[in-house]
Amino acid sequence: MVLVSGAGTNLQALLDACGDPAYGARIVAVGADRDGIEGLARAERAGVPTFVRSLSDFETREGWDAALGVVVERFEPDLVVCAGFMKLLSTDFLARFLTLNTHPALCPAFPGMHGPRDALEHGVKVTGATLFVVDGGVDTGPIVAQVAVPVADDDDVATLHERIKVAERAMLVESVGRIARGGIEVAGRRVRVGRAAD
Ligand code: GRF
Repeated sequence: MVLVSGAGTNLQALLDACGDPAYGARIVAVGADRDGIEGLARAERAGVPTFVRSLSDFETREGWDAALGVVVERFEPDLVVCAGFMKLLSTDFLARFLTLNTHPALCPAFPGMHGPRDALEHGVKVTGATLFVVDGGVDTGPIVAQVAVPVADDDDVATLHERIKVAERAMLVESVGRIARGGIEVAGRRVRVGRAAD
């Protein structure tokens, strides 16, 4: 199960990888918190079921989160992957579904909505992307995988984020495949991936 809010290029990378049965993972559904986004169109083109649960259709955030949990449960996912999903999920949701998120910075540096911008403003020479197990915080969960990306002198936020996204997609595809084939163990902050396949 993949959750998206936007362009869905990370989703597309997963959809492409799942085209090979040897990859080991299958996307049972794609969910979004808004309609009319390219992420949903990508899923539809791939023949993957989609659903939308918009926060604005619910009176409370708790109601939205519970409704999201109901529809996610229906697909019985082994793993929920937030790929550019721009909403925080409740601890109830996270207790029910093992949920990963990808963030365009090297956690614990530059959490939040503006990872590439904050890295650029700080003047770091290396940034990257992080795949992590979602906990109650903002980009604070146990780290599954990271990839480093150099910052160029003439980068702006768009060029830096685009370079990060190329590396981020490869990291996501590799990690999800290893999890699908070999499992994932989370012990406190330490995560081990793919041991059964090693
Ligand atoms: C990714 O860089 C993700 O880490 C961030 O937003 C971007 C989503 O890109 N939260 P896309 O929708 O997968 O193209």
